[in-house]
Amino acid sequence: MVRNRLQFIGLAALILLVVPFAIYAINFGQGGLRDALPKPHYIRSSDTTANGAIFTHMILGGLITTMIPLQLIGVIRTRVPVFHRWSGRIITIGAAITALGGLIYIGLRGTIGGLPMDVGFTLYGILMLTAALQTIRHARRGQINAHHAWALRLFWLVLGSWLYRVHYGLWYAATGGAWSNPDFSGPFDLVQNFAFYVPYLIGVEIYLARKRYRVAVS
Ligand code: HEM
Repeated sequence: MVRNRLQFIGLAALILLVVPFAIYAINFGQGGLRDALPKPHYIRSSDTTANGAIFTHMILGGLITTMIPLQLIGVIRTRVPVFHRWSGRIITIGAAITALGGLIYIGLRGTIGGLPMDVGFTLYGILMLTAALQTIRHARRGQINAHHAWALRLFWLVLGSWLYRVHYGLWYAATGGAWSNPDFSGPFDLVQNFAFYVPYLIGVEIYLARKRYRVAVS
């Protein structure tokens, strides 16, 4: 009971923390799609496919970042399963389109940080696409353990874009921006290309392995 309450409070607090970033992302995306961003802009180009892909990914990415903590709230899952199912469909489809939008943009224009950032973000997009498809596939087959495992991976991947900004914010507050350059070529930037999702995914795998072990010995 206490654990459920703490989990509820933690996830509700998380939603409040991600909302400013989600609003920023949705605003950025809709401004870009309407060609209403201040010019010149580092993302908008004459390539309409790349523009459509990246701005759509921001809008959907912002939406799913706010929605995904709700999926982990146990009381919603058990008391309003229809909400869990429908928001789950929106999140997984939204995550797949978000990932594809980012991947299309990288393929057509590349990132501002060049090859290392292209590699880090391409891997991020592939992992998010895979996790979204696996989450919905296992749910439809009723394979609940596998569904939970993939949903947890997707949770951390979706939060990754917000965590990327949190890492930068904390780092700049602590060091004034050491090892970080405007063209994202500093040692901190290079590590960041992977550090906003890889450590969290490793944490998820350790958690899942411990859970499997506990079940096996009980
Ligand atoms: C929850 C998911 C996501 C959200 C909310 C999100 C949001 C954003 C926002 C707001 C920007 C504008 C950059 C800025 O902050 O100034 C951006 C840029 C970008 N995003 Fe995402 N994103 C998400 C997921 C992804 C994924 C999965 C990929 C990988 C395929 C990706 C690839 C990119 C790329 C390549 C850029 C342009 C980077 C550059 O050249 O500087 N994003 N994203």
